[in-house]
Amino acid sequence: MKSLHFDSLDSTNTYLKDNYQNLDDLTFVSCDYQTEGKGRNGRQWLSEDSQNLLFSVLIKDKFLIEEFKKLSVVSAYSIIQILENYGLKNLSLKWPNDVYANDCKICGILLEAITRNEIDCLVIGIGLNVNQTEFNDEYRIRPTSMKIELNKDTDKVNLKRNIYEKLVSNFETVKNGHDFYSEITKYDYLKNKDATTTINRNEEKIRIIGINRDCSLKIRFKNEDLDIEAGEITLNL
Ligand code: BTN
Repeated sequence: MKSLHFDSLDSTNTYLKDNYQNLDDLTFVSCDYQTEGKGRNGRQWLSEDSQNLLFSVLIKDKFLIEEFKKLSVVSAYSIIQILENYGLKNLSLKWPNDVYANDCKICGILLEAITRNEIDCLVIGIGLNVNQTEFNDEYRIRPTSMKIELNKDTDKVNLKRNIYEKLVSNFETVKNGHDFYSEITKYDYLKNKDATTTINRNEEKIRIIGINRDCSLKIRFKNEDLDIEAGEITLNL
């Protein structure tokens, strides 16, 4: 395991983006506290000191970089597999890469590309709520943690190693051509849900059909099916 750990960083994603040239494929960097933890869409990622897992994985393998859409969904699925092994129930994957337990967010994933002329590498940043039990009111989606779900503390060192091994083995499986589609659809949180979204500045009703084999999302709008990529749509449920 090519692993680096720090007490505190601005952000594990930023660390890998700043240092990727000197680091190997699949380097894993974690820390106890982030001073500028980043969430998706420019939001902050808040996490109490030493309570949770905050880590990022560097992807330099050219084949995996091309599969970046799958990697984000497969990363979330890997977290679900690990959480199930720890006894969590009612887990789901909210496309493209949030993990929910009992309809509350337990894990968020931020995938960033480092691009010069083409994509040089990817950084997959994962924040998993482990032993934190108090969350302030600043969260858009109600948070939960392993401790809230299981009523006990989890050893973060073992958990981190288990997650690393699962991610590496699932990424290897993606390289071998497996797409995890049938496994992932079982956990599809958005499947068959009604939502609204802004289309041409109008708030429109849509129906979400579900995750596609290529990890885009199929939605139905005015009887027409459309495939949406991550980042192209904001859904209000
Ligand atoms: C989201 O759901 O908005 C994505 C959150 C991603 C948070 C993780 S924590 C480790 C890594 N470093 C960051 O700054 N962000 C990601």
